[in-house]
Amino acid sequence: MRVLITGGCGFIGSNFIRFFVKKYPRHEILNIDKLTYAGNLENLSGLEKNRNYGFVKADITNATQMRKVFKRFRPDAVINFAAESHVDRSITSPDAFLKTNFLGVGVLLNCALHYGVTRFVQISTDEVYGSIARGKFREDSVLNPSSPYSASKAAADGLVMAYYRTYGLPVVITRSSNNYGPYQFPEKFIPLVIFNAMNGKKIPVYGDGLQVRDWIYVEDNCRAIDLVVRKGKLGEIYNVGGQHERANIEIIKQILKTLGKPLALIEHVKDRPGHDRRYALSISKIKRQLGWQPCVSFQSGFEKTMRWYRKNGEWLKNTQTGAYRSFYRKYYSTLGLTET
Ligand code: NAD
Ligand code: TYD
Repeated sequence: MRVLITGGCGFIGSNFIRFFVKKYPRHEILNIDKLTYAGNLENLSGLEKNRNYGFVKADITNATQMRKVFKRFRPDAVINFAAESHVDRSITSPDAFLKTNFLGVGVLLNCALHYGVTRFVQISTDEVYGSIARGKFREDSVLNPSSPYSASKAAADGLVMAYYRTYGLPVVITRSSNNYGPYQFPEKFIPLVIFNAMNGKKIPVYGDGLQVRDWIYVEDNCRAIDLVVRKGKLGEIYNVGGQHERANIEIIKQILKTLGKPLALIEHVKDRPGHDRRYALSISKIKRQLGWQPCVSFQSGFEKTMRWYRKNGEWLKNTQTGAYRSFYRKYYSTLGLTET
C-alpha cells in the first residue's frame, strides 16, 4: 500500500509516521510538508534512511506541486494532517488558516479524485462543534465553530463530505479532542506550560482558567487513525475523544507540582476572544463500529509526557531558537542530496 501523509513534520503527523512506519514495514510512506514554523524535521530524525519512508517539502495549496506528487507517487491512501493549527494565531492572522485548512484540502481532494485514491482520511477536530456546557457532542451534532481555526476546519469537513456525496470519493473524517505528548510545539498549552515552568517564566492563564478540554494521549489518537484508515466506513465521521476532561488550571498545577515549581508562576491574563468553555466528545460510534477506545490513562500519559520533555530539553530549546530549521539541510546531506 502506498500512503501519502501530509503535514507529517508537525506534532500528530510525526507521532503517526513513527507509529505507522514501524507497524507497516511493507507500506510505502511519503510525507509532504511545507515546513512552516510548526513543521520540524527533527521530529522524524532517525527515519531518514528507512527504505519505506520518504519526505518532500511541498505546499498542499500549490496545485502544480500536488499534481506532481500524486502523479509520481500514485498513493492508494491519503491522510491529511497538514493544517495551520493554533487558535491564537488564527485570531491574529486568519488568512493562512483559510488558505491551508480549506483551499489546501480542496487541492488534495481534486488530486485524490483525479488519481483514483481509494481512501482519503481528513484529520479534523472536536473544535468544529464549538463549546458544550453539559453532555457530549456526537458526530451528527450541529457544527458551531468559534474561531477562524475551527471555522476553517468545519468548512473543510463540509467540502470533504461534498466530494463523497457528489463524486463518490472514498473519504472518512476523524475529529479528535486535544492531543498531548512528545513533539508538540511549545505554543500549545501543555508544552508551553512545561517550557515556561522549567525556565522559571510566568504561565499565562487565559481568563479564570476553568475552561475544560478532553485530553487524549497522542498514541491513542494514532491507533484510532490507523483503524479508521483500514476499517472506517466510507462517508463516515468518527469522534476520537480521550475521555479525560480537565480544567486548564488543574493541569498547570499538576505540571508545577511535578517540576517542583511555585504556584506564584501562574499569571491570569486577558481571556482569548471567543474562547470555548468546554469540549466533550461521545466516542460510542468508534467504540461500537471499530472497537477503539483510549487505553492510556491521563496519569500515565501525563507522566510519559513530562519525562519526554524533561529528557528532550534540547528539542524544546531548538524550537525556541529556530535551530530546528537546520534539520532540513542535515536531512538532505544525510541522503547525499542537495537542498532544492
Ligand atoms: P501542527 O501545527 O503541529 O502540524 C501541522 C503540520 O502541517 C506542520 O508540520 C506544518 O509544517 C504542516 N503544514 C502547514 N501548512 C501546510 C501546507 N500548506 N502544506 C503542507 N504542510 C503544511 O498540528 P498538529 O497538532 O500536529 O495537528 C495535525 C492535524 O490534527 C491538524 O489538521 C489539526 O487540525 C488536527 N487536530 C489537532 C489537534 C491537537 O490537539 N493538536 C486536535 C484535533 C485535531
Ligand atoms: P490550546 O493548546 O491553544 O488548544 P485549544 O485552544 O485548541 O483547545 O489551548 C488549550 C487551552 O489552554 C485553551 O482553553 C486555551 C488555554 N491556554 C491558556 O490558558 N494559556 C496559554 O498560554 C495557552 C496557549 C492556552
